Amino acid sequence: MTWAVANANVALVKYWGRAPGAGHQPAGTSLSLTLDGLTSGARVEERPRAAADRVAWAPPGPVADLGRFVARARAQLGIERPLDALVVSNFPVAAGLASSASAYAALTTALAAFAADPPSGDRLAALARQGSGSACRSMLGGFVQWRPGDDAGAVTQVAPAEHWPLAVLVAVTGTGPKRVPSREGMRRTRTTSPFFDAWLTAGEADLAAVREAVRSRDLTTLGTVAERNALRMHATALGADPPLLYWEAATVAVIREVWRLRESGVPAFFTIDAGPQVKVLCEPGDSRRVERALAAVPGVLRVLRSRPGGAPRILREAPAWAASGVLPGPGGEEARPHGPA
Ligand code: DP6
Repeated sequence: MTWAVANANVALVKYWGRAPGAGHQPAGTSLSLTLDGLTSGARVEERPRAAADRVAWAPPGPVADLGRFVARARAQLGIERPLDALVVSNFPVAAGLASSASAYAALTTALAAFAADPPSGDRLAALARQGSGSACRSMLGGFVQWRPGDDAGAVTQVAPAEHWPLAVLVAVTGTGPKRVPSREGMRRTRTTSPFFDAWLTAGEADLAAVREAVRSRDLTTLGTVAERNALRMHATALGADPPLLYWEAATVAVIREVWRLRESGVPAFFTIDAGPQVKVLCEPGDSRRVERALAAVPGVLRVLRSRPGGAPRILREAPAWAASGVLPGPGGEEARPHGPA
């Protein structure tokens, strides 16, 4: 039995749009920060006498996708025996908290332990993105760039987690599944939003600015550009037909609170993915004050604390948070036999 854990990530320059055609390629380059403590675990073991894989996701995620991914990974990694795979996350699934990124990064890492030939990191990143695009960025720690392409440099670390001890606070404003899954949201945005090309073009300048801000640890530039990039992603999605609105009233209230904090002299900056949660970046010394301010916004259910985190790891046993309650009982969903997706 193998356990692996991987952290979620938050994009400072967003991936919002796949390139048309097969291959799970992004339309543009994104850059993320791997988030310590927002973690998924994957447990994988062989099923020596079984005919099919068995997969489970707890709390429940899109388990059919997980089954297809395990089948595909087995084919690519040369794993002949059926597998039993369980994925668990210690934070809300499918609610715009990037749980699919940490889930597929953890699963990819655990599956690699069963490969016929030890796969390279690049190959594993390419596999992880077939589960969920942003998962390839969770295969590395710290600040990570993902650009289109299949070559070795497609997913690279811009700086390790230790480079910049930022604080990241996640204002949770809803825990249900997101209204429209990212995949469908991206497809709709690319095919119907008149702003999509402009979004991609603007993203190139944001990428250059964020890379430089990371290098020089310039929070004001990083935060200003990340905030603008997130707002442009959502503006582009709002321009889709039918429109995509991922925010709740509390999301807007948190945006206003972050702007109020800035006016009062606290450098705090937000970013928002395809859901109602707001992630706020600030200096560690300001994090208590920012946390209190976010927690007091009506509609904020709780505030999670994070910071730059590391790459996936193999564990000898279940992570402590998984052992204490989120693991389901025996059984799980039998994966139907899947052809290549
Ligand atoms: C808004 O990686 O979940 O979080 O490739 O379809 O699985 P798929 O999409 P996914 O989308 C993430 C979108 C985002 C922005 C980002 O993380 O860059």
